Amino acid sequence: MDRSAAYQKAEQLREEIRRHDHLYYALDMPEIDDAEYDRLYRELVDLEEAFPEIVTPDSPTQRVGGAPLKSFGTVTHRAPLLSLGNAFDDGELVDFDRRVRQAIEDVEYVVEPKIDGLTIVLIYENGRFISGSTRGDGFTGEDITTNLKTIKEIPLRLRHEVPRLEVRGEAYMSRRAFQRLNQEREERGEPFFANPRNAAAGSLRQLDPQVTASRALQVFIYSILYQEDEPAGTQLDVLDRLEQLGFVVNPWRVHCKDIGMVVEACREGLDKRDHLPYEIDGMVVKVNSVDQQERLGSTSKSPRWAIAYKFPAEQAVTRVRDIITRVGRTGVLTPTAVLDPVRVAGSTVSRATLHNEDIVKQKDVRIGDQVVIHKAGDVIPEVVRSLTEKRTGGEVEFVMPSRCPECGSQVVRLEGEAAARCIGSACPAQLREGIIHFASRGAMNIEGLGPAVVAQLTAAGLIHSAADLYYLEAEQLVGLERMGQKSADNLIQAIDHSRENGLAKLLFALGIRFVGERVAKLLAEHYRSLERLQQADYEELKAVPEVGDKIAASIVAYLGDQANRELIERLKEAGVNTEQQVVARTSDSPLAGKTLVLTGTLASFTRKDAQEMIEQRGGRVSSSVSRQTDYVVAGEDPGSKLDKANSLGVAVLDEDQFKALLGR
Ligand code: IVH
Repeated sequence: MDRSAAYQKAEQLREEIRRHDHLYYALDMPEIDDAEYDRLYRELVDLEEAFPEIVTPDSPTQRVGGAPLKSFGTVTHRAPLLSLGNAFDDGELVDFDRRVRQAIEDVEYVVEPKIDGLTIVLIYENGRFISGSTRGDGFTGEDITTNLKTIKEIPLRLRHEVPRLEVRGEAYMSRRAFQRLNQEREERGEPFFANPRNAAAGSLRQLDPQVTASRALQVFIYSILYQEDEPAGTQLDVLDRLEQLGFVVNPWRVHCKDIGMVVEACREGLDKRDHLPYEIDGMVVKVNSVDQQERLGSTSKSPRWAIAYKFPAEQAVTRVRDIITRVGRTGVLTPTAVLDPVRVAGSTVSRATLHNEDIVKQKDVRIGDQVVIHKAGDVIPEVVRSLTEKRTGGEVEFVMPSRCPECGSQVVRLEGEAAARCIGSACPAQLREGIIHFASRGAMNIEGLGPAVVAQLTAAGLIHSAADLYYLEAEQLVGLERMGQKSADNLIQAIDHSRENGLAKLLFALGIRFVGERVAKLLAEHYRSLERLQQADYEELKAVPEVGDKIAASIVAYLGDQANRELIERLKEAGVNTEQQVVARTSDSPLAGKTLVLTGTLASFTRKDAQEMIEQRGGRVSSSVSRQTDYVVAGEDPGSKLDKANSLGVAVLDEDQFKALLGR
């Protein structure tokens, strides 16, 4: 291939990859599976390696490029980036509306969720991303372009060319990503982030873009700060236009004809907040008409046409009854405060994590103390601080036990680590927690095998390792608490199905230190079989993308351990698939050769999981309904696709029927 042919091919691949990025990240409607995407990406990388001169700065391969920076440059914003005034109750919303209506008549509002993240500004020239910054003090911010480029949800090239465009949005971390990041940090004995917002800010203010790239950051874009284009007429038009340009825009926006509707939309926000995958700290109310916004203008700090309705803080005060330690799957002992039950943000809380010994000391939390607790983007609440001024003198300091509370083995704390660990190799807590992890969603995803069942199985001596799961029989399960014949059969079936998950899930499930879901997937893609991975040495492992010293050393240690080798052998004997390509039962599945469209929310799987399972069975997922569609799977709150299916007479499956076709 000559240079110009390579150039053309590369441009074509980039366009295709961009289109799939947009389908996946902005529209949540992927058309191809990960493997197919990876093939396209690989082809582009190979081409760019063969012809380095054809690489463009906006190529999808250039997301993680540069070497670590020495410091961030500064960027002066075109116009000061204002912040919002606050309303703390309905009355303050009504006051805001009164002020607005003193200046203009016939006002309509838009209410949007207020994402609890970090403000970012993105600048595009001729459709290409050229610079990104933080808000800073509103006048100047930090230049974090290289870090922002690593966020896949930020388009490097827009879907339509505009000579110049500047937009504002929020970078954030989902609750799930935050929880995972802190878990990893806990295992490594590193300090945690207090909440997803701090985690997002900390991740973006990294001098090494590789670190930012490893953190699952996301964005929502909500305003146009500057454009060389026809101005939009309303905020709703702005959001539509941003979407058309290829940005990720929050789909939740409520058009309100009057302040009564605004109050209602804000209350609805309060109800919904706990069910969102990310944190919001309020709702933003904006005058819809851009013309009216301009007429209202701004003070030096904030616009007069918008206000933030702030939710009440998710904090509560309660008493620490006791501080116990819980043993995790890696043997780490986590001090946990047992509390007088108290309501925080919609649920009753009776435990709160204290993370480790140092944090207990640093926060000076004692048994008997009154403490402030909050929920940090996490199901497990956290102690914020103790109210030392309320002490009576009877409070007792916490001491980390020297023996494991579950097995009595010695507890040690290695130098340089915050974590204290039980070193018992037969610790029942480690076994139990290890199996809970093995069965969890991102791992082997065994439905019905939650913490309560695992605790019973281990306590009854029915399983001594994850491999034992595959030798269980329904008769052994019947009689366990809340386990009838039907649930026992279902559980055995779920365990049986998990045999086919493939190497990526299995590797994550094994719980090798530092091998999270992503690294497991990269390893599986690289080695394709567990046998090949077992033969790899330290140096070879380090050649795998994103695998550094620590991960490589941990894998070598894990695979070198006799007990782990035996576990792997027994899993293999039990018929657990240790290859990456799932031995797909394509031809005998009723889904083989079929085209499916998914709509609405499914209770038992994410979109991605559902798609994966369909494809493993030889089916295809399409994003739109046509006469060629074989089935439409309709979950809760189905969209217009369901109407379309009905009008075309396409077969519609509910979740149970879908599960039946999957053989689950
Ligand atoms: S509009 C002129 N909309 O909340 C101010 N802000 O002080 C325009 N935020 O840090 C802001 N979600 O970054 C707007 N949907 C949303 C938002 C939002 C989060 C942030 C914003 C700022 C803070 C308000």
